[in-house]
Amino acid sequence: MSKIKKVVARQVYDSRGNPTIEAEVFSNNLSASAICPSGASTGTFEAYEKRDKSNKKYLGKSVLIPVATVNKLISKKLKNQNIHDQERIDSILIKLDGTKQKTKLGANTILAVSMAVKKLSAKVKKIPLYKNFIVKKNFKLPFPLMNIINGGAHADNGLRIQEFMIRPDKAKSFNDAVRMCFLVINNLKVLLKKSGHSINVGDEGGFAPMISDNESALKLIVQAIKKSGFKNGKDISICLDVAANELIKKGKYSIHSKNYISVNQSIKKYLQLIKKYQIKSIEDPFGEDDWKAWSKFVNETKNKTQIIGDDLFVTNLERLKIGFLNLSANSILIKLNQIGTVTETLEVIKFSQLIGFKTIISHRSGDTEDTFIADLAVGTNSNQIKTGSLARSERIAKYNQLIRIEENLGRLAKMNKID
Ligand code: PGA
Ligand code: ZN
Repeated sequence: MSKIKKVVARQVYDSRGNPTIEAEVFSNNLSASAICPSGASTGTFEAYEKRDKSNKKYLGKSVLIPVATVNKLISKKLKNQNIHDQERIDSILIKLDGTKQKTKLGANTILAVSMAVKKLSAKVKKIPLYKNFIVKKNFKLPFPLMNIINGGAHADNGLRIQEFMIRPDKAKSFNDAVRMCFLVINNLKVLLKKSGHSINVGDEGGFAPMISDNESALKLIVQAIKKSGFKNGKDISICLDVAANELIKKGKYSIHSKNYISVNQSIKKYLQLIKKYQIKSIEDPFGEDDWKAWSKFVNETKNKTQIIGDDLFVTNLERLKIGFLNLSANSILIKLNQIGTVTETLEVIKFSQLIGFKTIISHRSGDTEDTFIADLAVGTNSNQIKTGSLARSERIAKYNQLIRIEENLGRLAKMNKID
């Protein structure tokens, strides 16, 4: 049995330049570290991200208290635990916190340790990380949901919808999937330049041109897909993350323009967009509490469009069960730091797959060089991965890791099924 000797934490920085926590777990002769990411358009029901609010030296954003919690408390509590007993270690961390949303220690504090434990366990077993999750054979590579135009809280262009993504549905391999997206992104760059737009990128690496209406962005993407020699809706599909939580006021939504309109009117507009631009997937089309609007929407789409709950489910089993009973969605976004431990994340993935919901593993808009989610996607046979554009190293790092995993699997590597 390999035991934990100690856990050490330190403050490092994420892709937005904000402090975040890295934990390093030590056994006798090995160690592994993991860094917690951070969101911008966070759901109310997410587990709590703890920061030193009163530390003016870091504008209240430092994580020195979480770091001290690991070094002084968690390290002692986990000493001598079996490194391979993830469930026990996570349950110690959950009990130590004792609150529903991990407000005492912070989900960021707990998650950095939990992920580092999983990594060290793989290292001790001398297996790649992706082989240390649920799947033991017949590994599948996920389809990338590549974010190519950024809006909402991830850019300052005034675009209502937060993420415009492409999914290379006809890709034969992960390598091929990235190549297809590469072509579209390069063609989009040319189109943007030609029409006088900036090619600066937003938080997740997608372009953030000064376009403020959704349809102009969609038209540009359709053009870029065509120019790359692909058929929109067949070879490549357009997918959206609306992040509608940011666009709600008194039960009305400003998704489609600055004007607030009813749920029914919003659905009508959505259906038009789905048809006109062959949109295959929509994430967070309505607010995190608006279960009825979600159910209505799924029903109106005849369950043919992938409807993903992000802020709605917050990787939380209880909320997922409500969504399942009400048919509020048919897919779930998985973000480790929304729930705070690897074990709880895996439980949510297992349950989702049991009820036929697609699992889409996701980065956060503030992310790091940590590539844990790439391995998690393959190790759970998750259908898709959402980890930004082909820009910014914290996004590319995940794609590169998936390319390595595909190579490591060799002849056995297979893409997941999109439908
Ligand atoms: P976030 O954005 O990390 O800022 O929450 C990602 C998303 O909404 O999917
Ligand atoms: Zn989202």
